[in-house]
Amino acid sequence: MYLRATGYILEDDELLIMQNENAIETFGLTKTFYSKLSAVNGRWLFRHKENRIVTAVDHLSLEIKRGELFGLLGPNGAGKTTLVKMLCTLLPPDEGTARVNGFDVLREQMSVKQSLGTLFSVGERGFFWRLSGYRNLEFYAAIYNVPREKRKERIMEVLNLVGLGDNGFQLYQKYSGGMKRKLSLARTLLPDPPILLLDEPTTGLDVIASRNIRDFIKNTLSKERCKTVLYTTHYVEEAAQICDRVAIMNRGRLVALDTPDAVRDMIKKAELVDIVVGNITEAQVNAIKGLEGVVNIVFDMEDKVMGQRHLQLQLESLDSLRLVFDYLFKQKIRLVNFRREEPTLEDAFIELTERSLKERA
Ligand SMILES: Nc1ncnc2c1ncn2[C@@H]1O[C@H](COP(=O)(O)OP(=O)(O)OP(=O)(O)O)[C@@H](O)[C@H]1O
Ligand SMILES: [Mg+2]
Repeated sequence: MYLRATGYILEDDELLIMQNENAIETFGLTKTFYSKLSAVNGRWLFRHKENRIVTAVDHLSLEIKRGELFGLLGPNGAGKTTLVKMLCTLLPPDEGTARVNGFDVLREQMSVKQSLGTLFSVGERGFFWRLSGYRNLEFYAAIYNVPREKRKERIMEVLNLVGLGDNGFQLYQKYSGGMKRKLSLARTLLPDPPILLLDEPTTGLDVIASRNIRDFIKNTLSKERCKTVLYTTHYVEEAAQICDRVAIMNRGRLVALDTPDAVRDMIKKAELVDIVVGNITEAQVNAIKGLEGVVNIVFDMEDKVMGQRHLQLQLESLDSLRLVFDYLFKQKIRLVNFRREEPTLEDAFIELTERSLKERA
C-alpha cells in the first residue's frame, strides 16, 4: 500500500496498525443491574422484596494500546468482570460503547468475538471430565473452526505453551486445579486471537503455579507473541511486576491509571527511613529527634542482647538524611543497617480506593 502524503510504502498489516493503534477503546461504557433482594422487615420475620440498583460500570472511557499488557485492579464488586463481559459481547452495555480490534461491540459482534480470547475466573466450566485434555481441546478446535488438518498441530502447540505437553492425554478429572486453569488458558489461546481478556487467571493457584502463569503471560504472550492482554487481578504487586500500565477501578469508575511506579507515587507518604545503630545513648537519640528536618521518631526499639537500637525516622524529605548521617558520623555512632521504606502499590491501592469511597459518600 502506498501512502501518497508521506511517500512511505507500507505492508497491509502495518497500515492496519497505523489506522487503529488502540486494541481496546471504551467510550462512556455503562452497565447498571437492577435486582430484587429478599429483606427482613422490622421486628417481624416478614420478608419483602427490595429493589437494588448497582451501576457496575459507570461511564468508563479507557484506551488500551496494541501489544500492551494492561492490569486492571479493583476490590470485590468493582466492576472488572462486568467490563470484561461487555468487551467480549456477553453483556450489552446500557450506555456508551466499546471498540475491540477496531470493531464495535454492539454492531460488529462476530468480528469482536474473532479478535479475542477470554478466560473467566469462575470455575473451570465446559470441559468433559471423562475426556483427556487433548480430546477436550479437539472439541473446542472444531467449535472455533480451526482447520481440520491443522488441529493436531495447534492443540499440541497450545498444550506445550501452557506447560501441559506431558499431561495432554491424562483424563480431565485427574487434573489438579492448576492444570485445569492451564487447560482453560490453552482453550483461550486455541484460535490464536490477537487480544486476550484474562479475568483473574491466577486466583486459587499456589505460588509456583501463579508465578508460572504470570511469566507465561509476560514473556510468551506479551513479549514474544505481541498479544494485547487485559489482565484483571486483586493481587496488586502481581500486576505491578508484569504490567506496562495499571488501572485501579472502584465502583465502576477508574480511580487511577498509569505505570505501576507512577500509581505508587500518587500517594505521597512522608519519607520513612529505618536505621539500626549500635552504642547510642538516650541523649543522642533525643538529639537526632531535634535535628532539622526530622519530624518524628515513629518507631524505637532497643535490642539489649545485640546492643543495638532500631529507629524509624519520619523525615520532611530525603535531604534531611544528610544531617542525620553527619550527626552519627561526628558522634562516632556505629550504623549497622539502613533502609528506606518505599510505599508499595498495595498502599496506593488501599489509599486510592478509600479516597474514592470518601469522595462519593
Ligand atoms: N448479573 C448480575 N445481576 C445483578 N448484579 C450484578 C450482576 N453481575 C454483577 N453484578 C453486580 O455488579 C457489581 C460488579 O460486579 P463484578 O462481578 O463486575 O465485580 P468484580 O470487580 O469482577 O468483582 P470480583 O473481584 O469479586 O470478581 C457487583 O456489585 C455485583 O453484585
Ligand atoms: Mg470478577
